[in-house]
Amino acid sequence: MTSYGMFQLSPEHEMIRQAARDFAQKEIAPIAAQFDETGEFPSKTIKKMGEMGFMGIEVPEEYGGAGMDTLAYVLALEEISKADASHGTIMSVNNSLFCHGLLKFGSEDIKKKYAYAIASGQAIGAYALTEPMSGSDAGNMRSRAVRQGDHYVLNGRKSWVTSAPVAEYIVVFSMTDPEKKQRGITAFVIETDKPGFQRGKKEPKLGIRASATSEIVFEDYHVPVENRLGEEGDGFKIAMTVLDAGRIGIASQALGIAEAAYDASVAYAKEREAFGHKIGEFQGISFKLADMKTRIEAARLLTYNAALAKERSKKNDERYTLEASMAKLFASETAMFVTHAAVQIHAGLGYSKELPVERYFRDAKITEIYEGTSEIQRMVIARMETGLR
Ligand code: CAA
Repeated sequence: MTSYGMFQLSPEHEMIRQAARDFAQKEIAPIAAQFDETGEFPSKTIKKMGEMGFMGIEVPEEYGGAGMDTLAYVLALEEISKADASHGTIMSVNNSLFCHGLLKFGSEDIKKKYAYAIASGQAIGAYALTEPMSGSDAGNMRSRAVRQGDHYVLNGRKSWVTSAPVAEYIVVFSMTDPEKKQRGITAFVIETDKPGFQRGKKEPKLGIRASATSEIVFEDYHVPVENRLGEEGDGFKIAMTVLDAGRIGIASQALGIAEAAYDASVAYAKEREAFGHKIGEFQGISFKLADMKTRIEAARLLTYNAALAKERSKKNDERYTLEASMAKLFASETAMFVTHAAVQIHAGLGYSKELPVERYFRDAKITEIYEGTSEIQRMVIARMETGLR
């Protein structure tokens, strides 16, 4: 049994971690550079991950998932991201941003139809909150949903939607009552093969290049009332609740990227020689490794701790906003610190596409930006602590 400080992994945790590690190292790591280069969506491996239960780890089996706990999700996502952060992004959106919201706020029909399709790996999901003029200020949206009898008519534009170029189903947040601001937002699940839905051009990105990202546009799109999540006006709280879960996923992804960069650095420091010594014998390198390792282990504890807090919330329904934001903030800044140091340790080779180190560095950056920037995480943490606004 493996233990990390106060965390003991059960045989089931060990099993899913090993299954994810084996799959990631055998099937994903060898293709990661090529998909990064072309920016192609890795449909085949994503499909296989769905078949293995990785797209709905916490989703109960009756809704197509693996029926496991949050720590199992975190461990698996960490292993997948260690091989390739793009696969990690796609997995995280399906599990957290799509399935978590549907399970918590969706009707029985919504869970059976849409959560099942995503969790069982038959379809790809997405989450559309951001708009061209509202990123961090998520409540300030311009898109509109107007009720007309048994459906709503959606108009507007959503940007930076992960998996939008390929998604079959998307959780969309739109304003139903602009005067009420955050309390006037409503959430829907929409199908992308219906009239009035269009995908914009794919974003050319610095990192996680194999995960497809684009704008989406609604022009008089009709969504049935039964596809609403919660009540009218519940949308902002649903978006924030789902992001609490999502941020634990991004922390796990960041942890995986950092570990990959660290492992490569240790191996290189033990092998590469300069001035008649292994470079790991020089303090300039060894102190870097010590700082990298320490931050990774601290990030791990915060991330696993957030996973346990989320698991507890399934019973006591308490928010785990603080734990999730602290994990996301620290793990993403750790990923940036560690990958930056890894490039430096590898020097010229670290800057070359011959090795995956430069990809880890590019991939790490997004973890400080999406699902709430580091500045937003600090704001959330400080507000939770002081109660001030
Ligand atoms: N859980 C439940 N409710 C919450 C909540 C949470 N975590 N956070 C806030 N709320 C509730 C508040 O209690 C408040 O409720 P009342 O109206 O009853 O008082 C309501 O929501 C409004 O809260 P705030 O006044 O705090 O709202 P705000 O406008 O000040 O915004 C914010 C708060 C934290 C800055 C929020 O806007 C935020 O998180 N911004 C970042 C958005 C973000 O992460 N975007 C990324 C999008 S997803 C993505 O990256 C793309 C992808 O595909 C991966």
